[in-house]
Amino acid sequence: DLPLRVLGARSDLLVGTAVDMSAYNQDTPYRERVRTDFSAVTAENVMKWSELEPTRGQFNWGPADQLVAEARRNGQQVHGHTLLWHNQLPEWLTSGVASGEIDSAELRDIVRDHIRTVVGHFKGKVRAWDVVNEAFTDGANPVLRDTIFRQHLGENYIADALRWANQADPRAKLFLNDYAIDNVNAKSTAYFEYAKTLRAQRVPLHGMGFQGHLDLQYPIPIDANENLARFDRLGMETAFTEVDVRYFLPGDTYKTAGQVGSFNVLLQACLLTPKCVMFTVWGFTDKYSWVPGFFDGQGEATPLDANLQPKPAYRGLQQTLALG
Ligand code: G3I
Repeated sequence: DLPLRVLGARSDLLVGTAVDMSAYNQDTPYRERVRTDFSAVTAENVMKWSELEPTRGQFNWGPADQLVAEARRNGQQVHGHTLLWHNQLPEWLTSGVASGEIDSAELRDIVRDHIRTVVGHFKGKVRAWDVVNEAFTDGANPVLRDTIFRQHLGENYIADALRWANQADPRAKLFLNDYAIDNVNAKSTAYFEYAKTLRAQRVPLHGMGFQGHLDLQYPIPIDANENLARFDRLGMETAFTEVDVRYFLPGDTYKTAGQVGSFNVLLQACLLTPKCVMFTVWGFTDKYSWVPGFFDGQGEATPLDANLQPKPAYRGLQQTLALG
């Protein structure tokens, strides 16, 4: 019964979790589990722009600094999440842009300064950054999402963001990250083409993050391995960054089996991909998972139950890691 991080280390794979910092600070068994089972951590919320700079010019580094310091103590890597995302932006920013008080030129300066400040603050302490999160739309013809960044900085905003981040910490691996790209589909292919173009232009894009928020209503992404392989052949790192597997409650033996299989398909895809560096779950216990709050009637999406006891999904991850 070896911890996930120990089993992952045998394959040189970081096994990570999103960390909820309020749970971390009030729940000792939760905190212990973060330390013992994981070799990488991602802030579930505290590195997002709204959390870091709730008031313009006033930074709230406390919770993120704590996570980074404890990760260092625990021998864990930090995956930085996220520099630019159209959600969880500070109110001062969105309302300033909406009212026209912040014009396009000023927004460009603000975004550049944000990236420089945050990446600079954590320089040398964050292994990799999700530089832009969820930049593409869903559906049959994915295009760059119509965010305030795209609207005001132009369609090269992603290349600009990657360059600014690279200048602030040249050793950090720079990722794009998105959901619904775990298998070969229109959206993952859009990313593949986009990554090829950016890298041909020598834009510092080093990795692709596949969130892996699965839902048992939809087919298991059995071709995840093929999907990761094409990014690997571009010379990029790959990672599963936010894995969970939700279903409609109550569970039953079929759903349990489906969940075990779903976690394993993604983990195996990563193990089969030479430069797949990390397999991260978006919360490890049903006690604090984001899923029930966002999807009515769904839940039980993580490897440990609400009492922090291992479920079959956790045993499956152990077994798959043990096989390497
Ligand atoms: O911090 C405030 C708190 O001050 C307030 O009192 C409370 C009342 O609603 O809300 C708190 O903020 C919540 C925050 O989580 C911290 O708990 C937000 O309402 C809530 O919307 C937010 O949800 C997060 C969500 O991103 C926001 O879009 C989830 O915890 C987080 O798991 C989720 O993570 C995202 C990834 O970043 C990107 N990929 C998808 C993934 C799941 O949605």
